[in-house]
Amino acid sequence: MSNTMKKSFSFFLAALLILGLAACGNHAGTEPAESRTPAGSATEAASGETASMPENAENGSSESTGTPEASGEAGTVPSSGDEEDQSRTLVVYFSATGTTKGVAEKIAALTGGDLYEIVPAEPYSNADLNWNDRSSRSTREQNDKSARPGIGSERIDLTGYTTIYIGFPIWWGEEPRIMDTFVESYRFDGMTMIPFCTSSSSGIGRSGSNMEALAGSGTWLDGKRFGGNVSQADLQSWIDGLR
Ligand SMILES: Cc1cc2nc3c(=O)[nH]c(=O)nc-3n(C[C@H](O)[C@H](O)[C@H](O)COP(=O)(O)O)c2cc1C
Repeated sequence: MSNTMKKSFSFFLAALLILGLAACGNHAGTEPAESRTPAGSATEAASGETASMPENAENGSSESTGTPEASGEAGTVPSSGDEEDQSRTLVVYFSATGTTKGVAEKIAALTGGDLYEIVPAEPYSNADLNWNDRSSRSTREQNDKSARPGIGSERIDLTGYTTIYIGFPIWWGEEPRIMDTFVESYRFDGMTMIPFCTSSSSGIGRSGSNMEALAGSGTWLDGKRFGGNVSQADLQSWIDGLR
């Protein structure tokens, strides 16, 4: 090989080497670009998905969180209802002019109890309630211990009730005879019976023991007389004292 040929070959080799290095350099430079591109594409895809995800997520979340919550609530209500069913309270009352009714409603609100009104089959007129008339219906009934005025309200199923507040107005110092009709019409086994009354001034007297004897069942607590304007606080402290 001549010197000239050697130089040419060396130059060729050098040129090849430079081209090779240049090619490597370009290749090395494309990698980040390529690696960025998928990342960029991924980002774009992700951002594209991100843009659509909230809709999906919202839809999904509203469906997925709504459903369990709804089913959770649906599951809770019956179970707490079942618990309440094991010790239910009933407030039974008779009220000729609305006073006892008001007290009964307050007791029901404070105890979470159900209300049941003893409605006379034959309503009491003002004339019937005239205690100044010795021959008025109420006077005649109170003078006759065997009088049992009929009840017009639908019969109540006492199943599940464990506490019964039983309220009435005082008539001639005692429970109206329609209360005797009521207590003789039901069995109160396993139930705690709590009499209460309203009056102008008289106490509850023998009313509770009269009804207990006629009922022949239930555990009867001492009753209490209230004025029509008794406060919720006074009723609450009475209720608390019964426990
Ligand atoms: C026929 C009759 C007899 C009553 N006898 C008495 C009584 O002996 N002593 C008393 O303090 N109040 C008596 N009252 C008044 C009621 O007990 C009192 O007004 C009661 O709060 C009425 O309740 P009500 O609105 O639920 O019917 C009598 C009322 C009537 C209609």
